[in-house]
Amino acid sequence: VFAHLVQAPEDPILGVTVAYNKDPSPVKLNLGVGAYRTEEGKPLVLNVVRKAEQQLINDRTRIKEYLPIVGLVEFNKLSAKLILGADSPAIRENRVTTVECLSGTGSLRVGGEFLAKHYHQKTIYITQPTWGNHPKIFTLAGLTVKTYRYYDPSTRGLNFQGLLEDLGAAPPGSIVLLHACAHNPTGVDPTIQQWEQIRQLMRSKGLMPFFDSAYQGFASGSLDTDAKPIRMFVADGGECLVAQSYAKNMGLYGERVGALSIVCKSSDVAGRVESQLKLVIRPMYSSPPIHGASIVAVILRDRNLFNEWTLELKAMADRIISMRKQLFEALRTRGTPGDWSHIIKQIGMFTFTGLNPAQVSYMTKEYHIYMTSDGRISMAGLSSKTVPHLADAIHAVATK
Ligand code: LMR
Repeated sequence: VFAHLVQAPEDPILGVTVAYNKDPSPVKLNLGVGAYRTEEGKPLVLNVVRKAEQQLINDRTRIKEYLPIVGLVEFNKLSAKLILGADSPAIRENRVTTVECLSGTGSLRVGGEFLAKHYHQKTIYITQPTWGNHPKIFTLAGLTVKTYRYYDPSTRGLNFQGLLEDLGAAPPGSIVLLHACAHNPTGVDPTIQQWEQIRQLMRSKGLMPFFDSAYQGFASGSLDTDAKPIRMFVADGGECLVAQSYAKNMGLYGERVGALSIVCKSSDVAGRVESQLKLVIRPMYSSPPIHGASIVAVILRDRNLFNEWTLELKAMADRIISMRKQLFEALRTRGTPGDWSHIIKQIGMFTFTGLNPAQVSYMTKEYHIYMTSDGRISMAGLSSKTVPHLADAIHAVATK
């Protein structure tokens, strides 16, 4: 009965790793998926995560019962505090409902389905371009996906005018997906002044902000600085949704741990929103997993572990910034034609190089360097040892 099926294509991002794994070359380099690697090119488990896991193992009172539908309640409270700020008026007034979800993707999906069921507007505007999974998540959640201008290829920066025009023209009440920081794939973020203009425009038109926060702490190295745009929208007393992921900032990729927070106008509404979120989650996966959320809770509740985490996070962010400088320098030394200053200007895990699909495929074929076809490279996958190889490849395609 399935004989009519055609072979589905690989995922544009995760498929890059599949292709990379098949390549026997000793010089191969995977700059596709946004996953942190050490200077030795190895995945990293944070020290603080190891310590938290040890605590969990030593605690013989821990059981493996089902979590409630909303997940680990302490984790939810700590996650809301982490993203909204410990002194957030919305938390103080008990207007936030937070549910543990399966990392960023799961949080976006649950939020998307909740909106499709209960919000009066069914259109969500996403940045052009955006993370490849966004349009699929929201379409399958039951929303209509449209785009707003964001990136200007000629400056490799923000198309702020286009952004304001498109959001200004969106029907009142539309949902707008905003990357809280370290925009994926472009690495281009609005300034705080620009965020303020976006906020004013969105609030004046009643547009509903839905933040995707996958990189808190990774953009600037500071958890509070990276959460600032979200906190500006919460400070004005209006509603918003926030999807949080601990994949990158705690390196908990495979634990699938994240949270969806919905900031409401009153505590009464927040309670009813939570009751409806449970109806979305229960038939989808019943309740979320316990282990990853427990690790996060151990770290966030303990001041010493928390401080240790911020140092490890900053070290990851700094290594990425140093990779940016090294790659930029390597291209300068080679006299590679073109302006490559965007490599050091862009923010977060990715550089949106401007390389076209033909150049990307040449680099993969001739240099065994793997990246998404839009020319995005994960700076976190690079090391001092591999920078020259990448610079050689970019130089080769730029002079071809
Ligand atoms: C990425 O963009 O590479 C990451 O967010 C990983 C993913 O799931 O695509």
